[in-house]
Amino acid sequence: MSKIIPVSKNDYIDVVFEDLTHDGAGVAKVDGYPLFVPNGLPGEKAKVKVIKTGKGYGFGRLIELYEKSPNRVDIASSESHKYGGCQLEHISYEGQLKYKENQVRQVLTRIGKLEDVIVHPILGMDEPWHYRNKAQVPVGEKDGKLIAGFFKPRSHEIVETNESLIQLPEINEAVQAVKEICTKLGIPSYNEEKHTGVLRHIMARYGLKSGELMVVIVTRTADLPQKNQLVEELVTRLPKVKSIVHNVNNKRTNVILGDKTKVLWGAEVIYDYIGDVKFAISALSFYQVNPVQTKVLYDKALEYAGLSGEESVIDAYCGIGTISLFLAQRAKKVFGVEVVSEAIDDAKRNAELNGLTNAEFTAGEAEVVIPKWYMDGNAADVLVVDPPRKGCDEALLNTIIEMKPKKVVYVSCNPATLARDLRILEDGGYKAVEVQPVDMFPHTTHVECISQLVLKM
Ligand SMILES: C[S@@+](CC[C@H](N)C(=O)[O-])C[C@H]1O[C@@H](n2cnc3c(N)ncnc32)[C@H](O)[C@@H]1O
Repeated sequence: MSKIIPVSKNDYIDVVFEDLTHDGAGVAKVDGYPLFVPNGLPGEKAKVKVIKTGKGYGFGRLIELYEKSPNRVDIASSESHKYGGCQLEHISYEGQLKYKENQVRQVLTRIGKLEDVIVHPILGMDEPWHYRNKAQVPVGEKDGKLIAGFFKPRSHEIVETNESLIQLPEINEAVQAVKEICTKLGIPSYNEEKHTGVLRHIMARYGLKSGELMVVIVTRTADLPQKNQLVEELVTRLPKVKSIVHNVNNKRTNVILGDKTKVLWGAEVIYDYIGDVKFAISALSFYQVNPVQTKVLYDKALEYAGLSGEESVIDAYCGIGTISLFLAQRAKKVFGVEVVSEAIDDAKRNAELNGLTNAEFTAGEAEVVIPKWYMDGNAADVLVVDPPRKGCDEALLNTIIEMKPKKVVYVSCNPATLARDLRILEDGGYKAVEVQPVDMFPHTTHVECISQLVLKM
């Protein structure tokens, strides 16, 4: 017999929120039926409007708060809360950290059945604002002026945003400068519907330690009108700029950057440091967006790897070699694997830049390359994985279990797939000893974790 749903669409009901979902919505229960309501916080009493009902759960909209949680804070920037990915901005930073830590604990128990793994208190930021070293904002037009900001969810309407509270000030300044100068020079924005116009996105990157700024202007057209004037004004207005790049993307696509990149002024790359390791960052390379917390994360990776200088290390999913080179300072040899071949070129260049001759990089899928290495008789003492959100491929996990490195360090941006993979490794002979959550993305629902596993005797 099917269960009766206790509420109907458009009902107004009073609820008490009990929990938060993994994407930050409040959870209220009506006769056991869960209702997900964005902006509701545990302990709060509120009036909500039911906007959708499904078999197992429904969705509501917050109409009125009767009792506020002590963790609720005034939203400093409602635009970024609504559209800019800052889903937790209405929760005090302390409350956000608690929420993320709980979420990691719950998922490890529920999905991974890992009852005795030590989960440390989350490492948060002392200053959790203005941390992002990169922005890529879409450009549109309103009342004859260029606007840049966020897309409204599930729409392509741009909401003008003049300052993002999670981006570094240099990034905000750069975006504003490009927008205002392009408006003055009459450079038209891209029209997505008609696939006409010029300016699609403004991208800015900043090296926090080096103080070097890169501006990337993404256009539909191969030609950038008034480019000399634009460059001249940008250089005058942005004293930290070291590189101005033009990227052409003439496809009808949601992908931001196209394949063609041309340096308009200055250098092809900017540099930045994590600890003492120097990295060259080009317009197209992946680089962690929170440099302060990246150092915290990589220090943990080094601690968990426990290197004495004699170990052979494999860094699967190595990107531009950031973790590999950090570990190469203390290992005998590091072998990095990454599927994007341009990132491998960057990793090789970065090894040279730092005079690290004990790091070797290979382009390919980790689940293909590492099993082959093992079949050829090569094994590692320590294996580091830092996969995308979907977690590690099963073939890679099976190879780890057969290869038996003494330690595995698992870096993860998705606690659910981390829990799943830790369970597989535990069943395969490893002990997940400890998990350290790190807040790399304050005010968003994302949480990074690093875990140490040791081979059971
Ligand atoms: C979360 S990032 C980590 C990058 C790097 N460790 C860092 O901290 O900058 C994951 C990386 O895995 C790469 N990747 C995705 N699937 C892969 C696969 N099957 N084999 C190897 N690398 C892969 C992505 O291109 C990306 O660079």
